[in-house]
Amino acid sequence: MSETIIENTVDIESPMAPSLAVIRRVIWETDDTFTLLIDPPQNDGRGFSFLPGQFNMVYAFGIGESAISISSDPAKPNILAHTIHRVGTVTSALSKVRRGDLIGIRGPYGGGWPLEEAVGKDICIAAGGIGLAPLRPVIYSLIRRRDEFGRIIILYGARSPLDLLYRVELEQWSKLPNTDVIITVDRGDWTWKGYIGVVTNLFSYIKMDSRETVAMVCGPEVMMKFTVEELQRRGLTPEQIYISMERNMKCGVGLCGHCQFGPKFICKDGPVFRLPEVYHLLEKKEI
Ligand SMILES: Cc1cc2nc3c(=O)[nH]c(=O)nc-3n(C[C@H](O)[C@H](O)[C@H](O)COP(=O)(O)OP(=O)(O)OC[C@H]3O[C@@H](n4cnc5c(N)ncnc54)[C@H](O)[C@@H]3O)c2cc1C
Ligand code: FES
Repeated sequence: MSETIIENTVDIESPMAPSLAVIRRVIWETDDTFTLLIDPPQNDGRGFSFLPGQFNMVYAFGIGESAISISSDPAKPNILAHTIHRVGTVTSALSKVRRGDLIGIRGPYGGGWPLEEAVGKDICIAAGGIGLAPLRPVIYSLIRRRDEFGRIIILYGARSPLDLLYRVELEQWSKLPNTDVIITVDRGDWTWKGYIGVVTNLFSYIKMDSRETVAMVCGPEVMMKFTVEELQRRGLTPEQIYISMERNMKCGVGLCGHCQFGPKFICKDGPVFRLPEVYHLLEKKEI
């Protein structure tokens, strides 16, 4: 009698399958925001290559996954950072991980900030709250390639002094040549000697060469809306302004349609867009 052998193999190589990654360290930036320093998944020594502005889908096992921007230095690919604001189910589960725990990572997804296009120009970076996280890799890259860019202006706003991210680095960046770091908070406290008010107020303290500036903006949509209006009042054209958009995501790779608007997908065609492509979407939650 001949023997029938049934092949019973399952292909687990799928773009939707997360890779295992080990938590190296957890840094609490504020009361509700933390940075996970992670050993990159499947690290063969070359590390985790990504562009400033890209994101990963970060998986808390047994709970679910969320889109989270990469906040580390692209030139240091052997350590991956995600700065996460605890808002709901997945981000709360991720807030409980400890050194040595495993999480899942898939990515990097999406496109990056327009660094090459900005060579030779002044850069205006405007961030609100957690919006500084996706811009931090771009700041690292600008500093590393400092001679290739003109003046760097970093405008940053948070709810209160205790909500400011990366305080030590902000201080270090403010000491770099030809670099302005201006910070504001919505509500001060007795320790705060800086500006109070919204990020757009900070434009009155700087002069910009509007024809030679590229702007990169990330934060809550209402903040981005008023910031891009202010940038245009100061003479920047919409083509000189880039923003990073957030929408609820499931697949992250252009398959499920969750983040779709018209012919475009935030996950695949963004999250960084030139302003004219997405201006009509600002403050419209789901389309
Ligand atoms: C491209 C991209 C990059 C992102 N980068 C970061 C990052 O670096 N750090 C970070 O903390 N967060 C980031 N986010 C937002 C993050 O994905 C959501 O906060 C997270 O998915 C919430 O999951 P949850 O299960 O904890 O919350 P849920 O329990 O799902 O929801 C809690 C609350 O958050 C709201 N919410 C859920 N998802 C989103 C979303 N995508 N945008 C706006 N509101 C949402 C819900 O409406 C609800 O009010 C990014 C999102 C995108 C699309
Ligand atoms: S998240 Fe599925 S298409 Fe963008």
